[in-house]
Amino acid sequence: MSAANDKGPASGRTTLLSQPVQRVTGRLRVPGDKSISHRALMFGALADGITHVDGFLAGEDCLATMTALQAMGVVIERHGETSLTIHGCGLSGLSAPVAALDMGNSGTAMRLFAGVLAGQQFDSVLIGDSSLSRRPMERVATPLRSMGAAIDTEQGCPPLRIAGARRLHGIDYEMPVASAQVKSAVLLAGLYADSPTHVAEPAVTRDHTERMLTLFGQPVTRAGGRVTLHPQGRLVATDVEVPADLSSAAFFLLAGTLAPAGELVLERVGLNPTRTGVLQILRLMGADFDIRTEDTGDGEPTGTIVVRPARLRGISVPPELVPLAIDEFPVLFVAAACAEGTTEISGAEELRHKESDRIGVMANGLRALGIAVDERPDGALISGGTLSGGEIDSVGDHRVAMAFAAGAVAAAGEIRIRDAANVATSFPGFVNAARSVGLDVAATADD
Ligand code: S3P
Repeated sequence: MSAANDKGPASGRTTLLSQPVQRVTGRLRVPGDKSISHRALMFGALADGITHVDGFLAGEDCLATMTALQAMGVVIERHGETSLTIHGCGLSGLSAPVAALDMGNSGTAMRLFAGVLAGQQFDSVLIGDSSLSRRPMERVATPLRSMGAAIDTEQGCPPLRIAGARRLHGIDYEMPVASAQVKSAVLLAGLYADSPTHVAEPAVTRDHTERMLTLFGQPVTRAGGRVTLHPQGRLVATDVEVPADLSSAAFFLLAGTLAPAGELVLERVGLNPTRTGVLQILRLMGADFDIRTEDTGDGEPTGTIVVRPARLRGISVPPELVPLAIDEFPVLFVAAACAEGTTEISGAEELRHKESDRIGVMANGLRALGIAVDERPDGALISGGTLSGGEIDSVGDHRVAMAFAAGAVAAAGEIRIRDAANVATSFPGFVNAARSVGLDVAATADD
């Protein structure tokens, strides 16, 4: 199903209807990794030469990044849905956009572009949708200012107003929060700095930027928790193969685990160790899956995951795994709700700053389906049971919507998920993909 179909037949508002099923079975390659697709676009645009990208995620978030680059003069050819040719214009080859650059729902696009645009000769403005307009941006503006950038936020939130023609210098930045977006913004600005940039992270976060910089001929080193970039003045075009997104595969890991029967094969999934916390946590909960790794050799490990039904048990989620599973907590909340016993999530305050407040929204949704949830500032205590049928509000958060759609596999009745059009930001074609392996999901226009 196309992204437009995901939005339902009649309007921009969509309800997903998901029913319990007996079997989840088959083979599926979910769409390309969102984090890697954003970076492939940006790095390809800033490189010297031509970059080919395969496996690109044509979701709304990455299309916002593509449109913004085109608005700054970058020529990008699309071949079908998932292949691109990017005509790189070099680190200093972007041209001034005539209007504000719209990042839509995408925090990654906005924060990474803040780093890139801090190093340009022209002024720019970054705007976003209502969800993005409430998300914290001082976390990128502060370190970029200390590099010499001039950035204004609106009381800490978008729009971001970035003045050009600033001289940037490297910094040694200790991030107060574990954020790959902040780390990436600082490293991207570091490409334009006149001295080395160092970023220390309080916990390991996804390292796609470091891997891709290296792939584009700009080495980055890591010692302990500190990443260092010595700017070389250019990126060199290369080819990028984007693996399937583990964050999207996670909905099917959940559905394949909760279904009474079947066997699901998830193909060419990205298995970067800075992303695989969800696999470790689900394993601790008793999930039954095998992984065959197939390193692609271009910097991002991939593999096939075969998942079978299993009974989950409640656990205390190890806090050190939280940043490695940060986008999969909607899935893990639902897994906890369907497990035997109690699951404790802590050290996850960052979830309150995602596309929605994912602790509050997941707690409300689970309670609406009969699950006892004790919400805490940095997590929740979830008493496992059986999801009743009923209605939940995903408040426009794509991952919340898809997690409940997957959880319905084992519910006592139909789950109706309101305000779900944004599944198209990260997973165009979710409904068809889900149906192809046995889920009973449909999209309708909200009434
Ligand atoms: C991302 C980093 C994470 C993640 C987001 C994608 C990235 O955000 O939640 O979906 O591509 O760098 P934070 O850096 O805010 O943790």
